[in-house]
Amino acid sequence: MTYSVDQLIDEAGKLYPIPQAAQKALVLIHKAETSAIDLAQVIGTDQVLAAHVLRWANSAYFGMGNRIATVQQAIVVLGLDITEEIIMTYSLSDQLNQPVPGYELRRGELWQHALGTAIGAKLISQQRHLKIDEEAYFAGLLCDIGKLVFEKLLRNADIGQVEWGQHSFLEMERNTFGLDHASLGSELARRWQLPENLVMAIAHHHDPQVAQSHQLLASTIHVADAAMMMLGVGIGVDGLRYSLDEAALQRLGMTGDSLFQLVGQISDQLTRTKELISFD
Ligand SMILES: [Fe+2]
Repeated sequence: MTYSVDQLIDEAGKLYPIPQAAQKALVLIHKAETSAIDLAQVIGTDQVLAAHVLRWANSAYFGMGNRIATVQQAIVVLGLDITEEIIMTYSLSDQLNQPVPGYELRRGELWQHALGTAIGAKLISQQRHLKIDEEAYFAGLLCDIGKLVFEKLLRNADIGQVEWGQHSFLEMERNTFGLDHASLGSELARRWQLPENLVMAIAHHHDPQVAQSHQLLASTIHVADAAMMMLGVGIGVDGLRYSLDEAALQRLGMTGDSLFQLVGQISDQLTRTKELISFD
């Protein structure tokens, strides 16, 4: 059974839409003349989004001791980059927090994996002074978005458990659909008009060595993704078939030891973030 890319993109159209207030807020953030007042007004139209932003600003991490009472103050304390992260994370939570039975992932596993990969990618950028903190976070959050499209189709596909156990996700997707979640995800990102660095990083998060551009970002996502696999989150039927590209580690100036350290740091930060977004 082979699907055309267009058929698969049609399936993507059936994913949960990004909440309207979040979409508007993301557009505003990228306009040079946007003020905290305008942005607060838009965020304030979505109670849940507003509550997320307030909770983040009042968390111990920002040291404000529960003194932030308005969304506008919260935006000033958080800054636009962190506000954007919170909006994106909130926007994708409905989609990624569903069970993913096609991949044998329980409810929330794909979400935790995406969040952890985003956190890990940003940590790598900060620690290695790569200066790609924000794009690393978003590429990490989005890298497996193609799996959501395949998921429903996989549930209906006639694939025996034995066959599943013998192949990685990528091989299984290519055999079943003619392309894998990295290629489909990058095509989605392109059609959503996301920037080229995100498109390339999503396309090559499993094989950063063949990326023709933005290899550093693709390597960052690859290593953060591998760290999440080591944590054991979001493995599903893929088992431990994830192959780490050693060249990506070297490109980032990392060693096996620093990768293990990263796994611990992601785990700590993921726990804190999950508390803040009331993830169960
Ligand atoms: Fe992936």
